[in-house]
Amino acid sequence: MRVSPRIRAGSPVSGEVGAIRGELRGAGGAGGAANADPGTHGRNAGAAGTLVSLVTIDLNAPTSTREPDTRALDDAAVARIRADFPILAREVNGHPLVYLDSGATSQKPQSVIDVERAYYDTVNAAVHRGAHTLAGEATELFENARATVARFVGAADDEIVWTSNATEGLNLLAYSMSNASLGRGGEDAARFRLGPGDEIVVTELEHHANLVPWQELAFRTGATLRVIGLDDEGRIRLDEGPDAAANVIGARTRLVAFTHVSNVLGAVNPVERLVDLAHAVGALVVLDACQSAPHLPLDLHALDVDFAVFSGHKMLAPTGIGVLYGRSELLNALPPFLTGGSMITTVGLTESEFLPAPMRFEAGTQRVSQAIALATACDYLDAIGMHRIEAWEAALGQRLYEGLAGIPGVRILGPAPDARTERVGLASFVVDGIHSHDVGQFLDDRGIAVRVGHHCAQPVHRRYGITATTRASAYLYTTTAEVDAAIEAVADSRSFFRVA
Ligand SMILES: Cc1ncc(COP(=O)(O)O)c(C=O)c1O
Repeated sequence: MRVSPRIRAGSPVSGEVGAIRGELRGAGGAGGAANADPGTHGRNAGAAGTLVSLVTIDLNAPTSTREPDTRALDDAAVARIRADFPILAREVNGHPLVYLDSGATSQKPQSVIDVERAYYDTVNAAVHRGAHTLAGEATELFENARATVARFVGAADDEIVWTSNATEGLNLLAYSMSNASLGRGGEDAARFRLGPGDEIVVTELEHHANLVPWQELAFRTGATLRVIGLDDEGRIRLDEGPDAAANVIGARTRLVAFTHVSNVLGAVNPVERLVDLAHAVGALVVLDACQSAPHLPLDLHALDVDFAVFSGHKMLAPTGIGVLYGRSELLNALPPFLTGGSMITTVGLTESEFLPAPMRFEAGTQRVSQAIALATACDYLDAIGMHRIEAWEAALGQRLYEGLAGIPGVRILGPAPDARTERVGLASFVVDGIHSHDVGQFLDDRGIAVRVGHHCAQPVHRRYGITATTRASAYLYTTTAEVDAAIEAVADSRSFFRVA
């Protein structure tokens, strides 16, 4: 049954997305989004499409991230984007907010804020359960959100498992593999079984979320954890040295887990090579896409990874929603982690049967408004164009890197942006003689928000002989003036703390 709740989010179409929508309509779209018939606009055109469209996006818009978009973003376009983010208008400590902490969590556009409220105002119900109208509408919105997010990352709908965040997705996978190692899932799950002699491989630059769950899995199963090292510039060692990927990944390797983009070093890692090395020995690949899904066009099928995780809150969506991606065939062979309601077919008093993926991993009452809001965020990003966002952030990243590198006594972690290295708009740095907390506070006095500390990645800091850095991280709403203000403030911090 197709349902079409008429949810009025009441948000004006504004900024860059509004401009794009106007262009797209002019180019070929008939009819406004608010009048769209939810039954006539293709795969993502159900109730969620209606809800999303009322907020910002024209259903007729071709929003695929896979089409290269050649219109470069500039400060004028970014100014229009910024109009969609209410928080960016506020002041902090008497200065306009300069938000350079998007690597920790992103700010939210009005459309995302509105869509959650619209859902609670007009639909709210538990999904996959009730026979009543609201339950049917909520279920369709929820499943359409899954389809939207799947398309955004180049996956099939049933390969997207909702989680609370990336951390939960990685723990889900690690605990499901423990269950397989105890024999759950039978022969179908044999490929997930680990024991003494088996090896799990990670890299030295992982966020704790992609390290600690694997340490724990190794403890529970008796498997060994091995680590691919980094060179002095901050690149993953691929061939040279005993801790190079080509030497660490071998016949005993069962799983290789690594991050697409380091949240400390800012460089895009060589996914293709690592996937090739892992698959050549029959190992599974887990990609931490937390810092790539928000910033680059992502095509998980093309990357050929087996599992991936990312968090909604880093890509314009609210907290409380994330994704575990798994190849359909693998998810359907993997025993569940959380068990209980909503993930079963038949429950007896002593044993139960489980639904196929993705629902076998979605026990209990689900996070519906958050999932819908994540789909709205994906539509927002798509409407601007992930290629344009990637290019803008690369330019900001280069400006940030060069500006900081030009300040005496400032050392940036990670490789310099060059032909070999693609960097996102993020730089972690040390100012000689000043603790990162002091740098952070000095910047905050000027309204500039950055992150300080180890950024949940102690080993990579240790690798470079430090305990903490200051990290500035940009996003699609960051201007060149903001990057310049941060560079100037870092330079000024040196005279303020008398280390200049
Ligand atoms: C690279 C990377 N992986 C994993 C995570 C964990 O994300 P979350 O805390 O949303 O689960 C983060 C968050 O900072 C991250 O940057």
